[in-house]
Amino acid sequence: MKKRTLGNTQIELPVIGLGCMGLSEFYGPPTEKAEAVKLLHKAIELGVVHLDTAEMYGFQSANESLLGEAFVDRRDRVFIATKWGPTRDWETGDRLGIDGSSDNCRRAVEGSLQRLKTDVIDLYYLHRVDPATPIEESVAAMAELVAEGKVRAIGLSEAAGDTIRRAAKVHPISAVQSEYSIFARDIEADIIPACLEVGASLTAYSPLGRGMLSGRFKTESLDAGDWRATNPRFQGEAYAANVALVDEIETIATSKSCTSAQVALAWVIGRGEHVLTIPGTTKLENLKSNLGAYEVNLSTEELASLDALADRVKGERYDEMGMSIING
Ligand code: ATR
Repeated sequence: MKKRTLGNTQIELPVIGLGCMGLSEFYGPPTEKAEAVKLLHKAIELGVVHLDTAEMYGFQSANESLLGEAFVDRRDRVFIATKWGPTRDWETGDRLGIDGSSDNCRRAVEGSLQRLKTDVIDLYYLHRVDPATPIEESVAAMAELVAEGKVRAIGLSEAAGDTIRRAAKVHPISAVQSEYSIFARDIEADIIPACLEVGASLTAYSPLGRGMLSGRFKTESLDAGDWRATNPRFQGEAYAANVALVDEIETIATSKSCTSAQVALAWVIGRGEHVLTIPGTTKLENLKSNLGAYEVNLSTEELASLDALADRVKGERYDEMGMSIING
């Protein structure tokens, strides 16, 4: 798979990585541990290098522990990105808020290193910007970890353009992680220009619209405990309208003998050299197919028709609480 340079570092990464969140939480029940480890091992055999996790994924940070277990004997083959900031009650898993203070950064990194069974985190993101802590403090705390050799590169997730610019004055920002897909292009106005300005890569998460762009929700419904059931794009009339929009992606996929998910990923990686993406999956079959998206080329006409879809999507990316903590 073709590689791209991570921001202003010397690190080269295959353009498609793997978002690991869904293995532990949010998209239905967690995958059984042995199965998940098997999938992660298979992923690196298939050429995946960039694995994305976070302190807040899974009960008691189960997702980081899973990656630690899977990669302890093959650490040199993977690039591990994790994130800090949102806090949870350790015993109940309840979300407590966002703490971007240097004290919380120090607490979080020690836990992440331990669970990931590693001496160094390849890319450490502030997961959400804490409105009560100046971004300069959060970034300075991460910069100290770089100086100490505990972190290789720094990133921000769901940060606004001005925040990215302020952060980059404290320490180089190698990546900004935001939702980006055919259905979610709001970052093009403010956030992508800031990334280009400071030389950060854009790590596109939810490139498949949390699975919606694959077309599977035409026939499949969400489990009761699936977090997506609370997402405005997956509710009521918006859900039906959005699922119907996927027909236009499917038509292009059929004409190219590929899948809708591959078209969605080809669209994201075709946006430019600054983009890396981390589609999530718990299934080997989908993982293999997603990696094949790199071979899919979209014509000018196909791109134009896909480009027109975002404005027709119904519902916000998150519920009210979720929307209040993005673009921070
Ligand atoms: P996120 O970044 O939030 O994980 P995403 O990458 O846009 O979101 O989409 C992830 C969802 O797409 C998962 O529910 C995943 O389901 P599986 O675990 O069952 O694969 C689904 N998904 C990923 N690749 C897919 C594919 N090729 N076809 C259908 N669904 C897919």
